[in-house]
Amino acid sequence: MNTFNQFFFGIYPYICLAIFFFGSLVRFDREQYSWKSDSSQLLHDGQLRLGNILFHVGVLAVFFGHLFGLLTPLWFWDAIGVSHGAKQIFAMLMGGIFGLMALVGLILLIKRRFESERLSANSTWRDKLVLLWILATLLLGLLTIFVSMGHTDGHEMVKLMQWAQHIVTFRGEAADYLADVNILFKLHIFMGMTFFLIFPFTRMVHVWSGFASVTYLTRAWQVVRRR
Ligand code: HEM
Repeated sequence: MNTFNQFFFGIYPYICLAIFFFGSLVRFDREQYSWKSDSSQLLHDGQLRLGNILFHVGVLAVFFGHLFGLLTPLWFWDAIGVSHGAKQIFAMLMGGIFGLMALVGLILLIKRRFESERLSANSTWRDKLVLLWILATLLLGLLTIFVSMGHTDGHEMVKLMQWAQHIVTFRGEAADYLADVNILFKLHIFMGMTFFLIFPFTRMVHVWSGFASVTYLTRAWQVVRRR
């Protein structure tokens, strides 16, 4: 059991991150024509606007919530006087609200992709896999909220934070922090890490471009002159 834990939470995260970064780089270098969000608006317009907006607002909030929530060092929260319990409640509330928003949007997106004959026929198995993968990860994440209700003092959340911070700072004993957390956290983390592993092989690469488009805010003016 310990070896299992050490592999999945001590070594596997690095396998996923390596494939995520290196795979994205190779895909960008070798297959730029396939680097796109692969919009399906022209194939089937129905439910796209509502589903897509709900999903993206929810998932982006959850993504940044995880990033800041897991990676902000504990000393910072202590320094600004935010107790572990308050942070735990805030995480459950925000994760719950935006997670549900993403879930409703995702269900609409899944419905249209699988129910519209034209859209389904023009989708690759990867397009479908990615939607179902996010659905499973999201459902597991939402279920962990019920587990967290049992320890609102935040001590379990601190273990998850310690694990994530040890992983990104390459400290060896990371997996020990997850040894006795609830199985739902482990499954959610496994699905989340594996999402990074499959990311470069799917349309998910558009997320890189989504974030990179922020540079448009400071780009040079485009000068257009009359002939
Ligand atoms: C960084 C900002 C992002 C931008 C600008 C963006 C933009 C887009 C666009 C334009 C589409 C195509 C919609 C259409 O069919 O017309 C799309 C689809 C999609 N995006 Fe994003 N996205 C972003 C982040 C994310 C994130 C963080 C995730 C998930 C972790 C995600 C997951 C998806 C999925 C699963 C689809 C396919 C939905 C479908 O089946 O139609 N996106 N995105």
